Amino acid sequence: MSERKSVATAPSKVILFGEHAVVYGRPAIAVPLHDRQATATVEEALPGEGITLVVADLGRCYPLAEAPADDPLALIVRSALDALALPFAPDLTLAIRSTIPIASGLGSGAAVSAAAVRALAAHFGRELTSQQVSELVYQTEVLHHGTPSGIDNTVVAFDQPVYFMKGQPPQCFRVGQPFHLLIGDTGIPSPTKVAVADVRRGWKADRPRYERVFEAIGQLADEARRAIEGGDIATLGSLMDRNQALLREIGVSSPELEQLILAAKGAGSLGAKLSGAGRGGNMIALVTQAMAEGVATDLFRVGAKDVITTCVG
Ligand code: MEV
Repeated sequence: MSERKSVATAPSKVILFGEHAVVYGRPAIAVPLHDRQATATVEEALPGEGITLVVADLGRCYPLAEAPADDPLALIVRSALDALALPFAPDLTLAIRSTIPIASGLGSGAAVSAAAVRALAAHFGRELTSQQVSELVYQTEVLHHGTPSGIDNTVVAFDQPVYFMKGQPPQCFRVGQPFHLLIGDTGIPSPTKVAVADVRRGWKADRPRYERVFEAIGQLADEARRAIEGGDIATLGSLMDRNQALLREIGVSSPELEQLILAAKGAGSLGAKLSGAGRGGNMIALVTQAMAEGVATDLFRVGAKDVITTCVG
């Protein structure tokens, strides 16, 4: 209703190395993805109207006051307003739009939350640090995922490539030479919470085996960081293949992911793996610019519902 409008965006994310193992204290690497992002818009409402949340993509419009405690958007808005410590009860509409597929491993929940926090802060003329945004978003990640490592909120809030270990400050690092990725969507939604809980069950049943796999994945993440900083794209590809083999061992791949990975490799991709929680969602393939179109065509041919081409660095 008013001309005062505050808009903020947050990127989606791709985990390059270390998903799942990162929940068990091993390092992981993730990068922001700007080709898909969440946008939050805050507008003033009439005095006494309170706060209305609008999620047009899901056809939802509801007053914050009536939202249950486990509504992730309501939680992040309440937490953000607490953090802003306003001396009055605001009247506003917060509208979310997102081009990030849900439950696909691209961090849609974290991006929506980060955009909402940033738009609210901007609306009240406040600045929050990336670390503050990340900590607020982490609270909704707990709701979405149960036992999140914190990598999703970190990469989305810092909006830079991160080397992440649970409980430690994130290390943002330099990409030595830009590289190209294809992100292929199986179209199968896979809630992170379910895959993470299944891995935990497996870990409880056979800790030595799972710990060995997590340790090996962590070492790949360390090698990958060196390869990315040094611009060693060929090494990066083979590290992706090795990471995928280990993810397969802990049961988070799926026939649909394997089909896309096989097609990418068959079309010449330098390395390919699932990204995020697995079981469905997205896979990533490392390609040269020259081969990108051919690999993307093959991914669609074997059933990819969407393919994003992006450049990291
Ligand atoms: C989800 O994007 C990545 C996982 O490692 C879970 C987490 O880190 O919280 C599967």
